[in-house]
Amino acid sequence: LAPKHALHLALAALTTPGDDVLVLQPSWPGHEASAASVGAGVVRVPAGAEGLVTVDALQAALTPRTRALLLANPSNPSGAVHPPALMRQITRWCFDHDVWLVSDEVYGGLVYDGGYRPALETVAQQDRSRLVTVDGVSKVHAMTGWRVGWLVGPEEVVMAARGQVSRTITHVPVVTQYAALAALRDGVTARTAVQQHRRNRDLLVDALRAVPGVTCRDPAAGCSPSPTSADSSGPGPGRRRRTWRPGCWSRHTLRSCPAASSAHRITSGSASPSAHSASRRPSPGSSVP
Ligand SMILES: Cc1ncc(COP(=O)(O)O)c(C=O)c1O
Repeated sequence: LAPKHALHLALAALTTPGDDVLVLQPSWPGHEASAASVGAGVVRVPAGAEGLVTVDALQAALTPRTRALLLANPSNPSGAVHPPALMRQITRWCFDHDVWLVSDEVYGGLVYDGGYRPALETVAQQDRSRLVTVDGVSKVHAMTGWRVGWLVGPEEVVMAARGQVSRTITHVPVVTQYAALAALRDGVTARTAVQQHRRNRDLLVDALRAVPGVTCRDPAAGCSPSPTSADSSGPGPGRRRRTWRPGCWSRHTLRSCPAASSAHRITSGSASPSAHSASRRPSPGSSVP
């Protein structure tokens, strides 16, 4: 199952229609779509200036129906990496508030500037009982089209996901499973890919910084620099900062894209047939390929 499918299966196992899912703002649009696909409401949680979410922001966004937090670490689009200490705080907060952390780690193989550890390697044993991680070969191995990923989590979640896979696609096509295995066993290509992506990042970020008035942080991971510029062309007095997000690029010009400044809830109308069989505190367990 591809990472996107794994995200859907995880949320299908963890939520019932009408539950809320916390989603970082900005985030990859597929996260909100995943929540909507299982009939959950989306509560956007603003990331800080560095693209990181804090426990205070989570607390402010918590609703009585919050069931899961969907967090890409490393982040797409910001490329921010939540360091292990922060991930430990987040997973502890999740455990304390009976909220599942779905840690989307598909960019975990494309990290340039240290500090990243997979959540399973960093969080306390107890907090793993509220943790599901999702990964795949799409990014670092450039195998998006092969549609191979996996989820790892407590046994009840995995069994619910496995049941759903069995009732629908049966399994990932065998040929693509073998292709993914070959990729995972080949460390050289992955290392080369990281070097290549780092060169591309440096090239792009340097080019953006050469534009007068534009500043751009080095994304620590992933493929999407987020430049900002100070200009005085917009409404209101004085100079103001503009931040561009992926999806806000027009053909030859950059236009501003308002970042959400506060958490708000979007309720989805569509529910899908789903496996709502995970208990609230299952034991740590296994994975679905
Ligand atoms: C953060 C994140 N998670 C998951 C996915 C889904 O990956 P796939 O399309 O390979 O299933 C993407 C795709 O861009 C992504 O950016």
